[in-house]
Amino acid sequence: MALRVFASRCARGAARVSSARAFATSPSTTADEPPTTADEASTSSTHRGEAKTASFGYVEVDAREKESLVRGVFERVAPSYDVMNDLMSAGVHRLWKDYFVSKVGVFAGMTHLDVAGGTGDIAFRVLRALQRVEREAELDGQVLDANTRGKVVVSDINPAMLREGMKRATQRGLNQEQLTWLEGNAEKLPVEDESVDVYTIAFGLRNVTDTRAAIADAYRCLKPGGKYMILEFSHVENEILKQVYDFYSFNVIPKLGELVARDRGSYQYLVESIRKFPPQEKLKSMMRDVGFKHVSHENLTGGMVAVHTGYKTKDRI
Ligand SMILES: C[S@@+](CC[C@H](N)C(=O)[O-])C[C@H]1O[C@@H](n2cnc3c(N)ncnc32)[C@H](O)[C@@H]1O
Repeated sequence: MALRVFASRCARGAARVSSARAFATSPSTTADEPPTTADEASTSSTHRGEAKTASFGYVEVDAREKESLVRGVFERVAPSYDVMNDLMSAGVHRLWKDYFVSKVGVFAGMTHLDVAGGTGDIAFRVLRALQRVEREAELDGQVLDANTRGKVVVSDINPAMLREGMKRATQRGLNQEQLTWLEGNAEKLPVEDESVDVYTIAFGLRNVTDTRAAIADAYRCLKPGGKYMILEFSHVENEILKQVYDFYSFNVIPKLGELVARDRGSYQYLVESIRKFPPQEKLKSMMRDVGFKHVSHENLTGGMVAVHTGYKTKDRI
């Protein structure tokens, strides 16, 4: 797999971040007044007259601006990202991620690509599972070496998030021989066609400007027979749970962001972007549109989060 490795590009990436536009704080919103339903809008860019727009939370921005706005959000939240995840979800995000990785189907020698991988939560779990599976394979007599062992690639558009991830990997004493860091946009990754066995994206697709382009690029990266998995905030179906969840999201999360990360705007963006993301059925139809087969979804915690899965089958035309 031809990979542009993170370290060599770090300096250039950081320069781009500093030149990104200042964060546009969205108009204040409450749980009572979401301006559009998620069915009407998605993070995929849309045409309004001549201009191509994309939703940045509840604000429609020029599609060309969204990437730098999102980049600004994660640049600012990177140092407190992991603490905030634990606080906002009371640690439940760990269970969602454990469950998601348990469905990957890790096998010896696999190539795993985790996109929008941020500080490595998914990639580290996959890496540990891979190392376990390969140790067992060796005990069973299989001979593995540097060429035949599997690899895990963590990719993200934001060097600040990748830097936090690299720091964490070292702090945790992970064996990193099978781990690579790659800076790249999910819409067009610097990854060879048909080179990946499993492609995961967790809490990342919502942030991409053109959702459809990112799904199509995942299809391109996957080998025939490869598996695509999305873990993303989704749409709560139970009306009572939805009301409680909306109240918590709009009233507590931005406040936590303000107190802990000193950044209310980024957490307001988080809750709004969740509401704008395509609901479960719509996301499945987008996956089918680019060619994925056997597409399915599973709701976790009443649909607060959903796992979407699709396959690039060997018998495609
Ligand atoms: C909410 S974090 C998720 C991180 C990690 N997957 C996790 O579950 O903890 C979203 C990540 O998406 C990344 N991201 C945003 N837009 C992206 C894009 N167009 N391509 C790749 N990554 C992107 C951000 O930099 C950020 O690290």
